[in-house]
Amino acid sequence: MFQKDLLNGKRILITGGGSGLGKAAAQKFLELSAEVYICGRRHDVLAAAEQELRERTGGKIHSRPCDVRDPAAVEELIGIIWAEGPLDVLMNNAAGNFLARTEELSLGAFQSVIGIVLMGSLHTTMACGRRWLAAGRGGVVLNITTTYTTTGSAYVVPSAVAKAGLQALTRSLAVEWGDRGIRMNAIAPGPIPTEGAFSRLLPRPELEVAAKKRNPLGRFGTTEEFANLAAFLVSDGSAYINGEVVTMDGGEWLQGAGEFTALGRELTDKEWEMMKPNPKKSASQ
Ligand code: HXC
Ligand code: NAP
Repeated sequence: MFQKDLLNGKRILITGGGSGLGKAAAQKFLELSAEVYICGRRHDVLAAAEQELRERTGGKIHSRPCDVRDPAAVEELIGIIWAEGPLDVLMNNAAGNFLARTEELSLGAFQSVIGIVLMGSLHTTMACGRRWLAAGRGGVVLNITTTYTTTGSAYVVPSAVAKAGLQALTRSLAVEWGDRGIRMNAIAPGPIPTEGAFSRLLPRPELEVAAKKRNPLGRFGTTEEFANLAAFLVSDGSAYINGEVVTMDGGEWLQGAGEFTALGRELTDKEWEMMKPNPKKSASQ
């Protein structure tokens, strides 16, 4: 789908790049000749991902533990990376989430998820953005949100408010920093099987069947499809796309939102026939 050197010369940081979608994007970026940094909290997961992706792609990959909730740790990480050369792309992918009844959540539960998703992305974006602006050079930020940023969603409220904030950050800075060459976009993925997401959000296997049924395409997305979109959005081929949130969910959220969708799926063939105009009646009028 892409030229092998599409991302040649690009230095990219992916937060949460040691697992799931972040790791899939790291692999794709390496295959397209980028130099990739990944960070996360778990040393062992990062080290294993670094080794696996280096062996698989032969590309330049570095991993460093960092908790994005900690602004000092983020500043240190970005300083270390910049000492080796400026980044061209920041992908804010690290997240925390779980299913819970909101009235049962502690303040710590809210702080944990909002701290990772919203404040963590803010810390990395400010650390990179200030450096890009000071140097008078451009940069690209790609934020990973969800499809419930505008609708909200019951039972994942800390995530919903944090991802909505991240979407607002995307659109706000796309405008404020656009004239200085910094592009900000987001991907809002629908369900894509990863250990991190599915272990926390789909507690019973049969719920996966129901989740697929809710989707017009009747299936989940794939990490490959996600990585392809991410590669396009961080490449120079998408240079005029700024402030956009690209939904890739097979049409799932639209199916949920459409007034007559569920009703239409319930109707029998006989009922559809009954809904058609009656030719005899029209002729007599
Ligand atoms: C209620 C919970 C909870 C749960 C944790 N807490 N899990 N409350 N229900 N299931 C509370 C704890 O009691 C604690 O509150 C606070 O949250 C912090 O929990 P810790 O375990 O101490 O935090 P930490 O180890 O930092 O873990 C953070 C985490 C965890 C967010 C809770 O789940 C995590 O590490 N997640 C990272 C990966 C992830 O979530 N990936 C999925 C992304 S999927 P107190 O009051 O004791 O401090 C996604 C997309 C969804 O976002 C869309 C799909 C279609
Ligand atoms: P995942 O594998 O759990 O990815 C989350 C990553 O974030 C992990 O690598 C985790 O590593 C890292 N992380 C969490 N807290 C961190 C912190 N404080 N500091 C640094 N890194 C941290 O789940 P995923 O499915 O790939 O999710 C990736 C992104 O896609 C997330 O933004 C998620 O909201 C979004 N998304 C996923 C889906 C889906 O269906 N999979 C759908 C919509 C949106 P550590 O635990 O080692 O820190």
